[in-house]
Amino acid sequence: MDRITEVQNEALSAIESAQSPEELQQVRIKYLGKKGSIQALMSEMKSLPKEEKPVFGQKVNLCKQAVSEAIEKAQAQLEAKALEAQLIKDKLDITLNGTKSEKGTMHPLHMIQQEIEDLFIGMGYKIAEGPEVEEDYYNFELANIPKDHPAREMQDTFYIDPNTLLRTHTTAMQMRELEKAKGQTPIKLICPGKVYRRDDDDATHSHQFTQCEGLVVGEHITLADLKGTLEFMANRMFGEGRQIRFRPSYFPFTEPSVEVDVSCPFCNGKGCNVCKGSGWIEILGAGMVHPHVLEMNGFDSEKCTGFAFGVGLERVAMLKYGIDDIRNFYINDERFLKTFDRFD
Ligand code: PHE
Repeated sequence: MDRITEVQNEALSAIESAQSPEELQQVRIKYLGKKGSIQALMSEMKSLPKEEKPVFGQKVNLCKQAVSEAIEKAQAQLEAKALEAQLIKDKLDITLNGTKSEKGTMHPLHMIQQEIEDLFIGMGYKIAEGPEVEEDYYNFELANIPKDHPAREMQDTFYIDPNTLLRTHTTAMQMRELEKAKGQTPIKLICPGKVYRRDDDDATHSHQFTQCEGLVVGEHITLADLKGTLEFMANRMFGEGRQIRFRPSYFPFTEPSVEVDVSCPFCNGKGCNVCKGSGWIEILGAGMVHPHVLEMNGFDSEKCTGFAFGVGLERVAMLKYGIDDIRNFYINDERFLKTFDRFD
C-alpha cells in the first residue's frame, strides 16, 4: 500500500517537472505504459491474500486515475505554452517586401466576345456554340449555297474531305439551330466562335478569325428590327451617338442583304484617317433570312421572317482599341497582351 502512494507521488512530481510535451510523454510511458510502474503494481496483486486484493486493486486504480488526469492537465498546459512560444517566434514582419505574383490579363478578343454576349443576353438572346470541323451541309447547303454555287468562291475553304471542312462562318451553327427548331418560333440567338478561310495572312487578313453571328426568326420580324438591334449594338460597343447605315450587298442566305457601316467613333463622322475621310466604317454583313433557307429548314416562310447578321470580332477590337495589325491577336506577345490590363 505504501508503495502505491510512493509511486503516485513520484509520478506527480515527474509530471510537474516535465518541461515539454516530449518529456511528458516519457513520464506517461514510465508510469502508465504496459511495462510501467503502475502496471507492475497491478501484477503484484496476484501474490496478495484474497481478502486484501479488492482494497489494493481499488487503490492502484485511484492512483492510475490521478496520474492520468495530472498528465492530461499538464499536456494541455505544455501545448498552450508551446503555441505561445511559437507565435512569438513566428511574429509576422509586415515591413518586409512581399513577392509580387504576376497577374494575367483577359485576351482582347475574349473581352469583345464577352461584351457582345452580355449585350445580347440582356435582350433575351441565347448563345449557341458548335463544331469548328463542320459538315459541308450546314456550312453551305442549308445556307442556300449548293455545290456549284459561285458564292462558294467568296469563302476559300479548308476542306478535310469532300463533305467535311473547317467552318468558314458561324452561319453553319445558325443552320444547325434552325434545323433543330423544327419550324418552331421564336428563335433568338447569337453564335460566337472561330472560323477559317484560306487567306494569306497579312495586317488585315488571317486564315483563322472570330465571328459572332446573330439570328432572329419569328412573326413580323422586319428590316427595321434588324436596324434597331444593330444601332443598339453599335452604341454599346463604340459609345453613345453612333449612327448606322445600310448599303446593298449580297449573301446567298439573306435577301435583301446589306453591308452595315457605323459612323466613325474617332471623328464623329467628320472624316479622319481611320475612316479614310468618309465618316463611316464598315463593320458587318447582315440581311433578312432568305425564304428558301427558312423553307429548307422546315419553316413556313409565308408565316415567319427573320434577320441575321455577322460581325468579325477582330475588326471590332482593332477599331475599339486602335490595333493596326490583326496578327497581334494570335502571336501571344506578352507586351501586347499586358496592355489590356487597363481594361480590367
Ligand atoms: N456569314 C457572313 C460572312 O461570314 C456574314 C453574314 C451573316 C451575313 C449573316 C449576313 C447574315 O461573311
